[in-house]
Amino acid sequence: MQYLSKTVSRPLLAALALATVGVVAVHAEDAKPADAALANSLNTDDKSAEVDDKLLKKNAATKVEDGKYLDADGHPTFHVTDKGKKFDWYTYSGYRRYHAECHVCHGPDGMGSTYAPALKDSLKHLSYEEFIGILAGGKQDVSSSDQKVMPAFGDNKNVMCYADDLYVYLKARATGAMGRVRPGDKEDKPEAAKKSEKECMGG
Ligand code: HEC
Repeated sequence: MQYLSKTVSRPLLAALALATVGVVAVHAEDAKPADAALANSLNTDDKSAEVDDKLLKKNAATKVEDGKYLDADGHPTFHVTDKGKKFDWYTYSGYRRYHAECHVCHGPDGMGSTYAPALKDSLKHLSYEEFIGILAGGKQDVSSSDQKVMPAFGDNKNVMCYADDLYVYLKARATGAMGRVRPGDKEDKPEAAKKSEKECMGG
């Protein structure tokens, strides 16, 4: 379970790193509005996107580290450019992983099914930590009479090694940054993604 603890401790490491630079970055507040290169450029014609402006703002990227975009809380987030045509690597990868591992129960594009909830709605309120916790540990609504179970994926590397990817894809859907589209253009796969994938998959 080494790869799992790595995934879970990442936000803590990020928080520690932020706390360290905090002293130096006292003027960070003055630097807003954020770097134009971090802004999202959405396809405003895509009615399937259901844009939630407040949520979009909350999940806006405030910095990028080797192709991974991070929000103000230091959690991974999406980055959409070229009027909704181009996506960051992790969002693209999350789209693919979602449709390989989750779509069978949660429906295409996070839309939900009669069996499992629409994750495009769940991710409007689930935090990063809650999402990772459910993904690793599963979930069962004990009050429900029908035995619907979210399986625990903690031991499944094909899911846990891509937990951040799944999270940012579903956040992009929840905020409406991404509609019901198959991502076409994407940013190049970052070196960091190649490295952590190799380590996580035990290659
Ligand atoms: C075998 C079917 C199945 C698969 C596969 C599955 N889920 Fe689920 N999932 C469920 C069910 C059923 C629930 C609702 C459980 C409950 O609330 O009791 C659920 C709940 C969730 C929740 C909590 C939603 C909420 O509103 O609280 C998240 C997050 C989630 N799943 C993510 C995923 C992701 C990501 C994948 C793919 C890696 C995935 N699930 C694959 C069946 C599945």
